[in-house]
Amino acid sequence: MTTLLLEWLNIGLRWTHLIAGIGWIGTSLYFMWLDAALQKPDPPRDDVQGQAWLLHSGGFYLVERRTLPPGALPSPIHWFKWEAAMTFLTGFPLLVLVYYLTGGVYLVDPNVSSITPGAAVLVGIGLLIVSWVVYDLLWTSPLAAGRGRAATIVSWALLFAVVYALTRVLSGRAAYIHVGAMLGTIMVANVWMRIVPAQRDLIAAAEAGRTPDYTLSTRAKQRSTHNSYVTFPVIFMMLSNHYPTTYGHPWNWLILWLLIVVGAGVRHVMLAREKGKPADWWLVPVTVAIVGVVYLTSPAWLGGGMRGGDRVAFAAVKAVVDRRCVSCHSAAPSDDVFRAAPNGVTFDTPESIRAHADTIRTRAVMLRNMPLGNKTGMTDAERDLLARWLTQGATLDGAARAR
Ligand code: HEC
Repeated sequence: MTTLLLEWLNIGLRWTHLIAGIGWIGTSLYFMWLDAALQKPDPPRDDVQGQAWLLHSGGFYLVERRTLPPGALPSPIHWFKWEAAMTFLTGFPLLVLVYYLTGGVYLVDPNVSSITPGAAVLVGIGLLIVSWVVYDLLWTSPLAAGRGRAATIVSWALLFAVVYALTRVLSGRAAYIHVGAMLGTIMVANVWMRIVPAQRDLIAAAEAGRTPDYTLSTRAKQRSTHNSYVTFPVIFMMLSNHYPTTYGHPWNWLILWLLIVVGAGVRHVMLAREKGKPADWWLVPVTVAIVGVVYLTSPAWLGGGMRGGDRVAFAAVKAVVDRRCVSCHSAAPSDDVFRAAPNGVTFDTPESIRAHADTIRTRAVMLRNMPLGNKTGMTDAERDLLARWLTQGATLDGAARAR
């Protein structure tokens, strides 16, 4: 019963999280685009900084960016702040549900480090808090003066260092999601601690008929630019648990570095074009990074074939799978955590093993991230045996005997 309730809680949180996140990122992409698309009205008008004609669904829209005359605050004013809050309020409990309340199965990996699940939870939650404090101090320090080049360099260096450090401590999957959660938390804090207060000041100033505090609004703009650069990398991190080839790679830190370059690089090209100052040369490092990840995750780099040695009889393969995999991947698993076959994948019959030959190669031979956390203690000799069987064509020779 609890399992069922937790499953539905997971579905509900994830569903809402996605909707809130789409709403947030959608408005964020839209407003970054809009700011760049605005043009001076013709003939010029004093109170209009820029305007744009838009066509959407069934009509024309005229959007204007304005300064307000003192004391003239229009009503109602639509803010866009709840999407960010909702994304966090659904994302954090989801993190707790999936990673902190599951006894460490997804959180830690004995092949990575010997950290206990309890300590890993502290690392995770501590990271979310400390990273915001460090980032915010950095961007209110003298290093952020001028165009903030120094702070920009330090920020990227810290991000890459966090990626490396986390992949040495947590399971690959948890490391990726925590980098995403860290950036997402910083983004939400930017909205609520820096952008919304600046907007409050704009409103208060308009009501009181005074000049707003421009340091606040400049900082707000800077923070929303930061948010905009990390959006694409964060979206990948949130999806990454579907891609064991990335987080499960022995050099998963490098893979994530490269994918951050891809995401932020593409965003930079988009923003630069929107501003009319193209920086398309960024597509060069982006392409190099894509070629890099594809090569690093290919059999050419990872291996996965094994020639030579005697012909492997299927019976030997079946024995290994029975010993190391079937405790989870079975119609009736005996594992203490997985009461149903993970992803519906079962290895109860020779045919089902044969049918999953390719993914078995990827997970158990190339990436070596199955069995999960090597819970069943699979040996290198057993992986080599699977590798030889796969290279020899993954046939069911002698399957009748193995049944
Ligand atoms: C402790 C439980 C456990 C054991 C033992 C285990 N797995 Fe898994 N396996 C999982 C879980 C959980 C997933 C889903 C999450 C993931 O993909 O990482 C999974 C996913 C997989 C997938 C991907 C399925 C898909 O979606 O296509 C393959 C392939 C796989 N396991 C192969 C193996 C092989 C081969 C073994 C034995 C060498 C093995 N597993 C042992 C828990 C286990």
